[in-house]
Amino acid sequence: MSVVQYLFGGIFLAFVLILWSRRKFYLLTLKIPGPLGLPLIGMAHKLRKREDILQVIGGIEKTYSKTFLSWLGPFPFLVVSEPNLVGRILNSTDFLNKSLIYNAVAEGTGDGLFSCDTPKWNIHRKAINPTFNQKVLVNFVPIFNEEVNLFVEEVTQNVSNHSKDLNLSISLQKLSLNNAARTTMGKQMSSLTQTESDLLHCFQFVLKIMTKKLFSPWYQFKFIFQRTNYFQKYEDSKMAMRSFIRKLIKDKHEKGLDTEILEDPDKIPSNKNIFIEHAINLANSGTFSWQDVEDEANVIVFGAFETTANTVGYILMCLAMHPQYQQRLFEEVSSVIGPQRDSYISYEQIQDMVYMDMVINETMRVMAPVPLIARTTKCDVKITDDITLPKGLQVAIDIFNMQRDEDIWGEHARCFYPDHFLKDNLADKHPYAFIPFSKGMRNCIGWRYALISIKITLAKILLNFKISTSFLFEELEFQEDITLKLKKYPKLDIEIRN
Ligand code: HEM
Ligand SMILES: *[C@@H]1O[C@H](CO)[C@@H](O)[C@H](O)[C@H]1NC(C)=O
Ligand SMILES: *[C@@H]1O[C@H](CO)[C@@H](O)[C@H](O)[C@H]1NC(C)=O
Ligand SMILES: *[C@@H]1O[C@H](CO)[C@@H](O)[C@H](O)[C@H]1NC(C)=O
Ligand SMILES: *[C@@H]1O[C@H](CO)[C@@H](O)[C@H](O)[C@H]1NC(C)=O
Ligand SMILES: *[C@@H]1O[C@H](CO)[C@@H](O)[C@H](O)[C@H]1NC(C)=O
Ligand SMILES: *[C@@H]1O[C@H](CO)[C@@H](O)[C@H](O)[C@H]1NC(C)=O
Repeated sequence: MSVVQYLFGGIFLAFVLILWSRRKFYLLTLKIPGPLGLPLIGMAHKLRKREDILQVIGGIEKTYSKTFLSWLGPFPFLVVSEPNLVGRILNSTDFLNKSLIYNAVAEGTGDGLFSCDTPKWNIHRKAINPTFNQKVLVNFVPIFNEEVNLFVEEVTQNVSNHSKDLNLSISLQKLSLNNAARTTMGKQMSSLTQTESDLLHCFQFVLKIMTKKLFSPWYQFKFIFQRTNYFQKYEDSKMAMRSFIRKLIKDKHEKGLDTEILEDPDKIPSNKNIFIEHAINLANSGTFSWQDVEDEANVIVFGAFETTANTVGYILMCLAMHPQYQQRLFEEVSSVIGPQRDSYISYEQIQDMVYMDMVINETMRVMAPVPLIARTTKCDVKITDDITLPKGLQVAIDIFNMQRDEDIWGEHARCFYPDHFLKDNLADKHPYAFIPFSKGMRNCIGWRYALISIKITLAKILLNFKISTSFLFEELEFQEDITLKLKKYPKLDIEIRN
């Protein structure tokens, strides 16, 4: 026999073995409906255009069923958008590990909390949890106030100067990165040499390429990825982020506590409990390696600034498109804070803003900031009398389409309609029908942090500005970028309130 015959024989045998080892997945396709896609490539050819992923998946849910099975490359994927099954998954210890597509995230940001597997995850989550408890978060309120004041000042100046450079998206990201650097790393951005704009650019680029890698299994092969024309820029951007984080850690480690001096001496936050202090202690006590400190710091800063900045931007967009709701929220904020535009906003005051809570939740419902998440099964898991999910199945949760499902949310499902969050309207909703921060043990560690920071920022912006746009809500087109992005960003017009 020739070498070629051996080779083909070998490949054939390997193929049969692969099919056999995956028989449980194929059997599952008989029980759960879904488009099979091309073998080995699966649905990936349809998902190659990142901007279409959410629409493609939403379409399949409508045509086939709200839970469907498909393939992304060689991986069988169960896509779930029914609250009942979502609850079953997120509330279970059988689905704690992330899907293997998160390898792209681990490779991009470091293998921290967001992507790591058990048992490492259990140890890290337990170790980091205390830095996000209520007591620590309340200490951040003065920082959030100070940073948003600077933001308001800059926007006010640009508006008065009729500046053409006014772009809220970019300024909100700067604000959010400043907040993240101060509250988690204890460092003011202005004290750093790297320019913030360069860093933001790097963050955005890494995020974009990570998403590309996540949905294109062939990029997992280094020799293919290295030939892409963005490989070098990706490596350079990652390196820039890393050295930024490394510098923050090094400063902290060498200089120790450098309690910031705030304008109001009564409001000096205790720095002892912030993330970086805690992480360094964990390294000194042997719980974390120094690599762990760096990875977790990277993930926390990444996690904290992107999502929060986007969300504030989306809320402002929704309010600009719906002046009646903006007016109502403005009235609530000024009735709680008083007419003074530069008032300090306290933790107690934001608790009293009930309508604000509804507006924030409604934005995160109709524009889920993290549209898709994915896990994998630890063992064979029986989900109904009839269906058992085999070990190693990839399970994606389609938060985006579930939160806009007419069968759950009714006729206004795809509109911005804050009354969805009136108590009476929530009464018949499944507890997992609204999960912008995910839910269960592996939910977002920073969800309270995010809400406090968003509320203070939003209150301050509304007290100072009136925002409008000619762009219609129905014209928005959404795209998956790990976080939610828009194909086209509406131009917002800003008027100073007096
Ligand atoms: C509006 C803002 C935010 C949204 C919508 C959001 C959403 C989410 C979601 C959906 C997850 C689950 C991901 C998954 O299962 O794959 C998650 C996880 C996570 N988030 Fe957030 N997040 C926000 C803000 C933050 C902030 C401010 C921080 C940090 C201060 C943060 C840090 C993290 C971390 C570390 C994880 C991984 C947790 C784990 O696996 O144990 N997030 N977030
Ligand atoms: C989640 O699990 C807890 C404890 O096992 C249980 O009390 C709760 O009802 C479950 N929730 C859902 C929605 O399944
Ligand atoms: C706006 O104009 C003032 C005075 O004319 C100037 O001092 C300030 O730097 C300008 N601000 C911006 C952001 O261009
Ligand atoms: C204000 O204008 C300056 C200079 O034109 C620009 O760099 C900055 O990003 C603008 N700020 C905002 C909030 O738009
Ligand atoms: C808004 O969502 C948060 C969780 O994301 C929840 O704690 C809060 O009660 C919700 N508010 C309303 C008014 O439903
Ligand atoms: C997660 O994956 C690791 C291997 O990466 C495995 O040892 C562990 O048992 C898995 N745990 C769960 C809950 O799936
Ligand atoms: C603002 O800047 C972002 C990022 O550079 C860009 O994607 C967006 O289109 C800009 N928005 C407007 C309204 O020009």
